[in-house]
Amino acid sequence: MRRKTIEDLPQGALRGRVVALRLDLNVPVADGVVQDDTRIDAVLPTLRRLREAGARIVMLSHFGRPKDGPDPRYSLAPVATRLAERLEVPVHFLDQWRGPAVDAAVAEVADGGLLLLENTRFDPGETANDAELGAEWARWADVYVNDAFGTAHRAHASTEALPRAVRAKGGEALAGLLMERELRFLGSALSDPERPFVAVLGGAKISGKIDVVQALLDRVDRLIIGGAMANTFFLALGLETGDSLVEQDRVPMAADLLARAGERLLLPVDCRVSDVISPEAATRIVERTQVEPGDRIGDIGPATETLYGTELARARTIVWNGPMGVFEMAPFAQGTLSVAESIAEAADRGALAVVGGGDSALAAEVAGVSERMTHVSTGGGASLELLAGETLPGVDVLTMVEGT
Ligand code: 3PG
Repeated sequence: MRRKTIEDLPQGALRGRVVALRLDLNVPVADGVVQDDTRIDAVLPTLRRLREAGARIVMLSHFGRPKDGPDPRYSLAPVATRLAERLEVPVHFLDQWRGPAVDAAVAEVADGGLLLLENTRFDPGETANDAELGAEWARWADVYVNDAFGTAHRAHASTEALPRAVRAKGGEALAGLLMERELRFLGSALSDPERPFVAVLGGAKISGKIDVVQALLDRVDRLIIGGAMANTFFLALGLETGDSLVEQDRVPMAADLLARAGERLLLPVDCRVSDVISPEAATRIVERTQVEPGDRIGDIGPATETLYGTELARARTIVWNGPMGVFEMAPFAQGTLSVAESIAEAADRGALAVVGGGDSALAAEVAGVSERMTHVSTGGGASLELLAGETLPGVDVLTMVEGT
C-alpha cells in the first residue's frame, strides 16, 4: 500500500489550485538566524515541483513548543527569510495563522507563489487537533500536501484535522517528495530488508527505545547496542557499572530482551570510562568486566569498535539510531565516529544505510559521513515511531493509491 504523492497527479492538476503545504520548519534559530539548513533544504524539491506545477502554495509549520499563544521567540519570520534565500524566490510571510487576514493573503497568492503563515502552535487548537481549526484552513485549501515527516507522529490540526477536512470536501491529501522518500527508505528497510540486516541502537535510555528494540528484534540479524543504554544491559548481566547512567527499573526488561535475543544482540565488550563526564575528562579503556566503583562509562571502547565494524562490513541493510557515547564531548566521541565511518563504508559498498534523525543525524554530520549514507532522516521521534512499527497519524490520513 502506498500513499499518493504529488508525482501521482496528472499534469496541470495543480495549476491555480491552493495547496496547503505542511512542512516541518522546526529548525534551530539563534538571535533571529537559522543555524542549520537541513530541514529547509530537504523540502526544496517539493517546493520547486509545486511551483513548476503552478500551485498557489500556502505553507504551515510549527516551531518550537510555545506554551501560551503567540510568543515572538517562536515566530517563523526568520525561517521565512532563510527559506527565501535557499529557494532563491520571494516568500511572503504573514504573522497570522488563521482568520480574515489569512483568507485575504491566501487570495493574493499567485500561481507558483509562496505564502508562509505564522507558527501553527500559537493556536491552542493545533496540538488539540481541533476539527474547527482544521476546517477553517480547509476552506481555502483545494489540495493538502504533507512534507513534514518530522511531525508525522503528531495528530495535530495541521497534520490530521486539516487533511481530514480537505478530503471530506472531496480534495486530496498527498505526500510531498521528502515524505515519500522517508517512508520509502525507512519502510523498505523494515518490510523487505536485504540480509544481513543490522540495526545499531544507541542513546541514553532503553525506556525511550524499548518499542523499537522489541520491534526490531524480530526482524534483524544483529542488533548492536551502544550508548548509556548498554549500561542497563550490563546490570542485567550482573556487571559493575560504577556511577554510570543506568535505568535500574528497566533491568528486568533488559534481562528479558537478552534472553529473547540470544546471539543476535551485541553489547560492548570494552568501554571508555572516567570519573567524570566532561570535555576535559581523562579516560581509561577497560573491558566491560573491569569497570570499577566510581567509574562512569562514556563511550564504547576500541575492541567494540572493531567488533561492530566487522558486523557492519557484512551488512546489506543498516538502520542506525542513537550515538554510541557522549559524542558531543571529544573524550567520548570516538566510538560514535568509528561506527558512523563503518556504516558509511558499508553504504559505499552498496548496502542500504538509513540514519534516524535527531542525535544520529547530528553524529553523522559531525563524522562528515552524511553524504555517503543512503538516507538521513529528518525526523527524530517520527523515525523512531516508524521503526517501532507504529502508525503515524500524519501519514495515515493521506490518500492511498488505489490497487497498491
Ligand atoms: C521535531 O523536531 O522532532 C519535530 O519538529 C517535532 O517537534 P515536537 O517534538 O515539538 O512535536
